[in-house]
Amino acid sequence: MGFTLLRGAALVLALFLAGPAVAQDLSGHAGPVSAMAATQDALLSGGFDGRVILWGADAQSARRVLRFHDGNVTAVAILSDGRFVTGGQDGRVAVWADTDQQPALVTAHGVSPVSALAVASDDGRIAVGFWDGRVAILDPDQGEIAATQAHAGRVSGLAFLTTGDLVSVGADLRFTRWDRGLAPQARAGLPDLPNGLARAGDRLAVIFAEGSLRLFSADGALLPERFLSDRPLIAIAATPAIVAAAAVDGAIWMLAADSLQFRAGIPADTGPVWALALSGDTLFAGAATGAIRRYATADGTLIGGGLTAAVDTFHDGSRGADVYRACAICHSLAPGDHSRAGPSLHGIFDRPIASVAGYAFSPALGDLDIVWTPRTVAELFEFGPDAYTPGSRMPDQRVADPADRQALVEFLERASR
Ligand code: HEC
Repeated sequence: MGFTLLRGAALVLALFLAGPAVAQDLSGHAGPVSAMAATQDALLSGGFDGRVILWGADAQSARRVLRFHDGNVTAVAILSDGRFVTGGQDGRVAVWADTDQQPALVTAHGVSPVSALAVASDDGRIAVGFWDGRVAILDPDQGEIAATQAHAGRVSGLAFLTTGDLVSVGADLRFTRWDRGLAPQARAGLPDLPNGLARAGDRLAVIFAEGSLRLFSADGALLPERFLSDRPLIAIAATPAIVAAAAVDGAIWMLAADSLQFRAGIPADTGPVWALALSGDTLFAGAATGAIRRYATADGTLIGGGLTAAVDTFHDGSRGADVYRACAICHSLAPGDHSRAGPSLHGIFDRPIASVAGYAFSPALGDLDIVWTPRTVAELFEFGPDAYTPGSRMPDQRVADPADRQALVEFLERASR
């Protein structure tokens, strides 16, 4: 399978590096974060840049960067055994084991993009919704086991109930509950265009294009509703206690899941928030800049991160060390430490590209004739990884300021020895 490089101008956004006083966002994607899922142990994000990033439980370092889908990663979900699943604009669904660089299971290129994913907590069945209204059920080991034309239009949300039944909402303004064989069990009409669905305990929370959020019973009976915005709501996440929703301008609300009482709000900031995820006391919000912000669910305060381990060890107070913070989420400087998404940068200079032992590089890098020197590393972040090292999994990012690039390579010359 070939990799398609994404060179759309909108996707090639410069990564603005945070200064020392700024709370540490998770800056991995180049361009908006389009999908997220969280468990107690991991956070999974997909981007408009086509990358999938698996973050560690500390939410300070990226464990893996995967590049597989052609185009936007439109939906992601985590299985209870730690495997995870991604769906793309390319219509494909991939099931991944945490440790592999290639998916364990891939469906064929679909005729229609994937628009929603859900995972059953009891048996790991995966529900996939498509833009053309189809819903398929996959076994994570065997692939498709059932499919139906569920809606006349985009499937905008899917959720499994604890009973094992599946609920879907679609652009045909319908709510349907399905049994394991995808036979319809209950149907209801929706008052407006649904944009997403999440399960909150035994109820279903649905966001709408008109800016409202509504709770439904498993049979589609309307429970409390709240009008939050005059803008479309575009992202939702829920636990049995909290429902979080984001509007297209980036404003976020956290509401009590039973009553939809207001708990906390986060004002609009850097543009649309296309993805939200909840884990424990933390809300993750994917920004249009590619950063992932963390907020306390109790009061909506932004959670700062402090320095990552690698910077702690090697930070020498220089500008270059600050610039390197954006790299430390993925690159250790300790010899042979490839535990983050990228290889250790220990001994990087005078080494040919993709040559350090113990790291599984993308095959495409083997064809490149680059030796890493202060000049070539500076060029890598002047032109960006997609242009300089085509096929790289490293998210496209730039260090725009020549003085910052110089400070970065000078820091690396000291710290990579
Ligand atoms: C979100 C994760 C991520 C971030 C952030 C990141 N990288 Fe990378 N980097 C990677 C991955 C993954 C690879 C391996 C690419 C591949 O195999 O396709 C890589 C490869 C590299 C390589 C080539 C290594 C070799 O041995 O050939 C260099 C050099 C590098 N990165 C430097 C940096 C620097 C400097 C920064 C900060 C400005 C940075 N990276 C930020 C993930 C990241």
